[in-house]
Amino acid sequence: MTNAAIIGGFFGDEAKSRITNYLAPNFKFIVRFNGSSNSGHTFYYHDKKIVRHLLPSADFSYNNYAFLSSNMVINPEELLQEVKDTEYMFPDVAKSIIVDPNAFVITAKHLEEDKKNIIEFGSTGKGVGCAYRDKINRCGIRINDLLKDNNEVIIALKNLGVRFETALSLYNDFEKFSILFEGAQSVLLDINFGTYPYVTSSECTLGGIFNSGFAAFMPSIVYGITKAYSTRVGKGPFPTEIFDESAEQLRKLGSEYGATTGRPRRVGWLDLPALDYAHKLGGFTDLIITKLDVLNGYKEIPVCIAYKKTITDQQDFFNAEPQFITLPGWNNSKDKVQIKPFINYIQNYMGCPIKYVSCGVNQGDILAW
Ligand code: IMP
Ligand code: MG
Repeated sequence: MTNAAIIGGFFGDEAKSRITNYLAPNFKFIVRFNGSSNSGHTFYYHDKKIVRHLLPSADFSYNNYAFLSSNMVINPEELLQEVKDTEYMFPDVAKSIIVDPNAFVITAKHLEEDKKNIIEFGSTGKGVGCAYRDKINRCGIRINDLLKDNNEVIIALKNLGVRFETALSLYNDFEKFSILFEGAQSVLLDINFGTYPYVTSSECTLGGIFNSGFAAFMPSIVYGITKAYSTRVGKGPFPTEIFDESAEQLRKLGSEYGATTGRPRRVGWLDLPALDYAHKLGGFTDLIITKLDVLNGYKEIPVCIAYKKTITDQQDFFNAEPQFITLPGWNNSKDKVQIKPFINYIQNYMGCPIKYVSCGVNQGDILAW
């Protein structure tokens, strides 16, 4: 079976979930392999805006199974709420949701402790880093422990139909059917490869898949996702950031406000040296460019094509001096002739095929390239 992965090429919020949801009908299992409710995955489904935090962006009308892997950390109350919210649109959805009981739990103590990370790192305050810390420190609590204790939230999830089964117990199914892995956050927020210490606490790259019990089912297609411009929430270096009124304009046009915290996102231009870094460390086989429609009407589009010093280390992002060119803009991103110079430039620069471009929020707005 051909398995595929969706990986963020920047600082999160590349519209990954829209691509996951679009591709989901081709796969049996949609697997979330890292992070937690720190992510806000927003997409439109038949004109309705959907925001998911813990559940992968599966399209449940196609009978997909959503699997929450052992490499995640999970706040059970939030999961229960999200399952109930999802049932409004997909009755009985709980029966399509499988949680690996080896995942670790976010507790009330973690939520309290994470408050200081909101100030220090711009964290989302969801307790994620604190839960991973306790996992590594060998004092974490697993979903399995809550199952044994007949925890009432876990029982409520079970009563709705959610299954608690390890990746190992599903090995035969994973062998038979195809899997789409949905990454949360991105290479530049990855605990190993991101702009440390301004990173999230999980493995947002293929390592997160490997360490979720899927070593035997690694994806042969790895889609790296980037917007036609870039954004970042929280603190940390952002070489192509813009600040003047053009930033406010771009933020408004792209609705760049955090789906989890509502914070205005920092905005900037597309950064090809950073995308190249993400491509090489993320193992992208293909690229997908999203939100081209946001730039409709821009006559010229600045793009960073080099830093004064070549990046060889994540710390190089802290004092990067970006060098820009401008590429011709477009009035209508759905007109392939108009966007071709921009897309072709990126494709040639990256040496990686661009598979799809996304030019709006509806299903028909994703174009094969
Ligand atoms: P934490 O993951 O909540 O600890 O936050 C650490 C950093 O990652 C902060 O800068 C957050 O804004 C950022 N972050 C975490 N999750 C996401 C996401 O889904 N999209 C974008 N940024 C995120
Ligand atoms: Mg997001």
